[in-house]
Amino acid sequence: MNRPVRIEVGSGERAYPVWVGSGLLAAEDLIEPLLRGRQLLLVSNETVMPLFGERLDWLRRRREVAIEVLPDGEAHKTLETAARLFAALARLGAQRDAAVLALGGGVVSDVAGFAASVWMRGIDFLVLPTTLLAQVDAAIGGKTAVNLPEGKNLVGSFHPPRAVCCDLDTLRTLPEREYRAGLAEVVKYAAIRDAEFFTWLETSAEALLAREASALAEAVLRSVSHKAEIVTRDERERGERALLNFGHTFGHALEAAGGYRELLHGEAVAIGMRWAARLSERLGLASREHTLRLDRLLGRLGLGLSAPSHSPEVLSAHLRLDKKARSGRLRFILWRGIGEAFLAEGVDVAAVEAVLGEAPGTL
Ligand SMILES: NC(=O)c1ccc[n+]([C@@H]2O[C@H](COP(=O)([O-])OP(=O)(O)OC[C@H]3O[C@@H](n4cnc5c(N)ncnc54)[C@H](O)[C@@H]3O)[C@@H](O)[C@H]2O)c1
Repeated sequence: MNRPVRIEVGSGERAYPVWVGSGLLAAEDLIEPLLRGRQLLLVSNETVMPLFGERLDWLRRRREVAIEVLPDGEAHKTLETAARLFAALARLGAQRDAAVLALGGGVVSDVAGFAASVWMRGIDFLVLPTTLLAQVDAAIGGKTAVNLPEGKNLVGSFHPPRAVCCDLDTLRTLPEREYRAGLAEVVKYAAIRDAEFFTWLETSAEALLAREASALAEAVLRSVSHKAEIVTRDERERGERALLNFGHTFGHALEAAGGYRELLHGEAVAIGMRWAARLSERLGLASREHTLRLDRLLGRLGLGLSAPSHSPEVLSAHLRLDKKARSGRLRFILWRGIGEAFLAEGVDVAAVEAVLGEAPGTL
């Protein structure tokens, strides 16, 4: 991709651009105009900073930059880490026009965004996402969060970034497992609202697995466009944004049952999408042909080929605890087929449990 592509998210004062392209971390001309003040806090982690920190060296020539390199991992997406970032902002003497820059995956951007959202009641936040999942999902939409011992993402805010720069080159070093987990979210966009994109993914699966530049650019661009369109129409998740949870209710139950150690989020979502398709089929909403196409595509991407064996009872208990289960009735994102997801209320618990019982053997 020669020239970066700009996609607009939101409207009015809160609108911001998402740039997608190659070499963006070194693109001074693009990033520089996005920075209003002199002071910057660059937040990254011990894995990402050694890989890409140098590409941002130009920032130090132009700004007063403090750098916080966090330990790697979800375990550090905490209030303690946010407090560490507040201390760094205080040492910097950060004023209202200072900015926080996140260089990393969703963990870094969630906690850095949270710190930016409450420092002096909110300062600028720029995201430089370096995982596929962060580029197509976590960095867009303005949700920030930290975890508590009581649960994931319990403390957070809506704080739209000033801009997001998705440098496709950073995806080259991503571990295979993380990369494939990101592809699950790409498949999700196609599954919920874009049958043509789904067909493109079917023909491009091998190119994507090989991380061919043009296929990767196309997949990221299309996914970013879908997320941008949805969050622009429904910033606070009152309606359409819920469709992004396709596969997630099942996925969360699987992640929780495994103590968040067995599966990456995208891996759980891939299994969850397969179950959601089976449930739609069982309820007579969609035909088997659609389930099979989803199974086949995810299988070629190495996703959801087997599920950890948790009993249907354990999974069902986690499903009911999920925040999407309101007043004992289960809410699910189901589909009528590829590209046609919708929010289903009051889904029959017996049908859900039947799917949970049959799936691991047949995935
Ligand atoms: N805010 C939102 O809307 C939103 C949406 C989805 C997910 N999330 C959050 O995102 C987090 C998951 O994000 P993630 O999947 O990016 O995980 P992550 O941030 O933990 O990154 C995955 C791993 O890849 C490493 N890494 C990152 N970039 C790399 C690169 N270019 N090369 C090599 N290694 C690299 C990281 O150090 C880490 O070890 C979760 O905390 C989740 O709750 C937030």
